Amino acid sequence: MRQTLVAGNWKMNGSKAATESLCKAIIAGLNSSDTGIVVCVPYVYLSDAAKLTEGTPLDLGAQNVADQSSGAYTGEISASMLNEFNCKYAIVGHSERRTYYGDTNESVASRYSQAQQQGIVPILCVGETLEQRENDQTFSVIDEQLDAVLNAAGIESFAKAVVAYEPVWAIGTGRTASDEQAQEVHQYIRQKFAAKNQAIADQLQILYGGSVKPDNAKGLFAMPDIDGGLIGGASLDAEGFLKIYSASK
Ligand code: G3P
Repeated sequence: MRQTLVAGNWKMNGSKAATESLCKAIIAGLNSSDTGIVVCVPYVYLSDAAKLTEGTPLDLGAQNVADQSSGAYTGEISASMLNEFNCKYAIVGHSERRTYYGDTNESVASRYSQAQQQGIVPILCVGETLEQRENDQTFSVIDEQLDAVLNAAGIESFAKAVVAYEPVWAIGTGRTASDEQAQEVHQYIRQKFAAKNQAIADQLQILYGGSVKPDNAKGLFAMPDIDGGLIGGASLDAEGFLKIYSASK
C-alpha cells in the first residue's frame, strides 16, 4: 500500500510572519501520528521553517535545487545547503521553472540527481500545456520529461523520488483536470515505470497538481494511481490545506 503525500508549494509568496503563522496553524491541525504532509517554502524562509517544523509531523521542502554541487553559480542554492535546513524534499522541474527560467529536461535531470546525492527526495514535475494536450502530445511530452531523468539517473533512483503530474493548463487557473483525466495520465506514468521495474512502479508516489482545492481533493485522491497532491494556492491557507490533507488519508 503506497503512502499518500500532500505537499504545499508556496511559490513566491509569504513573509517571515506569514511563514511562522502558517506553519504553526498547519502543525496545530495535525496529530503526532500524522505523516505525508510537506510545505515547500521560499529559500529565505527555510531557516525559520526548519525551526518551526523540527520534531513535528510537518516535513520541509524546497521549491528548487541547483544542478551543480557548489561553485560559481550566482543565485543558485545547492542541495547540501538545503540539507543544512532539514529539507526532506525538493521540487524539480516545475513548469514555472521550465517556462520562465529556461529549465530543460536535461537541467531538471541534473537537479534531480543533485538532490538525491544529498539524500533529498526530488519531487519531479511533469505535465503538458493546453496546446500539447489539444494536439494529442500529452503522453509524448511526459515521456520526454521522464526519459531525460531515467536516462541520467536510472529507474532504481525512483525508489527515492516522487513524481508530480501537473498539467500546465490546470496550474493556477481554477481549471482542474477531471478525476478521470488525471487518473489516465497517472496510470500511463505508472505503467511506464512498471514496464521497466514493477517494484519501483508499485511504490512510486505520483502526485497530482493543478488547482487542487478542498472541494475536489477527495475525488482526485480516490483514483487508484493518484497518491496525493502538489498544492499551490490552496496551500497558503492552513484550514484549506489541512482539509486537502485530510482528503488524502
Ligand atoms: O506546484 C503546485 C502548483 O503548480 C499548483 O498550483 O495554485 O493550481 O494549486 P495551484
